[in-house]
Amino acid sequence: MRTTIFVAVSALAAVGSCLPGADKHEFCAPGPKDARSPCPMLNSLANHGYLPRNGKNVSIDQIVNGIDEALNLSPLSSRPVAEFAATTSTTGNPSTMHLSDLATHGVIEHDGSLSRNDIFFGDNKKFNKKIYDTVAKFFTKDVISIQTAANARRSRLVAAQAANPAFNFTAREDQFSQFETALYLAVYGKGTEGNAKTKWVNIMFREERIPYKEGFKRPTDVITNEDIVELADKVKAAA
Ligand code: HEM
Ligand SMILES: *[C@@H]1O[C@H](CO)[C@@H](O)[C@H](O)[C@H]1NC(C)=O
Ligand SMILES: *[C@@H]1O[C@H](CO)[C@@H](O)[C@H](O)[C@H]1NC(C)=O
Repeated sequence: MRTTIFVAVSALAAVGSCLPGADKHEFCAPGPKDARSPCPMLNSLANHGYLPRNGKNVSIDQIVNGIDEALNLSPLSSRPVAEFAATTSTTGNPSTMHLSDLATHGVIEHDGSLSRNDIFFGDNKKFNKKIYDTVAKFFTKDVISIQTAANARRSRLVAAQAANPAFNFTAREDQFSQFETALYLAVYGKGTEGNAKTKWVNIMFREERIPYKEGFKRPTDVITNEDIVELADKVKAAA
């Protein structure tokens, strides 16, 4: 009896909020002590155990490998971003970070996010349903075209600028934001044509879950950095 309890408790401790016996990449919502980021995809990867489920001491390599394993997005695309992200590290080890470190404003985190509020209003890290609803209302079809994604992004930027007296959005932030839209179009769409499955994109933002149950599979063709750049350029041109 004592052994059984011990085994159950240590299994829980090992996998965060997963029930004992959970599969390695099963979705488990984070527990209250788990660290999460302002990135809906890194959070999804942690919720599926592609990254440490507690979101703590995550290494650059774990981010690069987790993105490759789950999404087939080229390390040539993810590694420079992961290295840049590590400049926010508070772990004491420059090659690891807590996911929460990524909310450091002005490194990658910026104003005018699609699903988070601006730092001026206090919380720039957690999913904000009210804000995301204003974006998702553009997603009226089964798939999100590049034009629709660009319109949703533009509308959110206009609203954020109007609401926030300290709104700071330079060319640099604009570029990050274009890349973030390009990333969801690449991962949940087709090649560089956009047309991301609306249901899958909503699940990423609203549930921080990879939509396997809804049919998502790791893309068979590698998503290259060139693909992301091409999509970001198209998002910019469609704005
Ligand atoms: C090296 C890997 C990555 C790092 C370090 C990273 C980090 C971040 C950070 C810090 C933000 C917050 C920016 C903001 O203020 O809105 C963000 C946003 C975002 N990321 Fe990631 N990310 C990574 C990979 C990915 C991948 C592979 C995807 C694929 C879908 C993705 C999708 C997004 C999206 C859609 C947003 C915008 C969220 C919003 O506007 O509310 N990210 N990311
Ligand atoms: C993170 O790493 C530091 C330094 O190695 C260690 O002291 C700490 O316990 C680790 N935290 C977690 C939650 O793993
Ligand atoms: C606005 O953002 C830019 C680029 O990230 C930064 O250099 C600048 O210091 C920011 N300005 C303010 C007032 O925060």
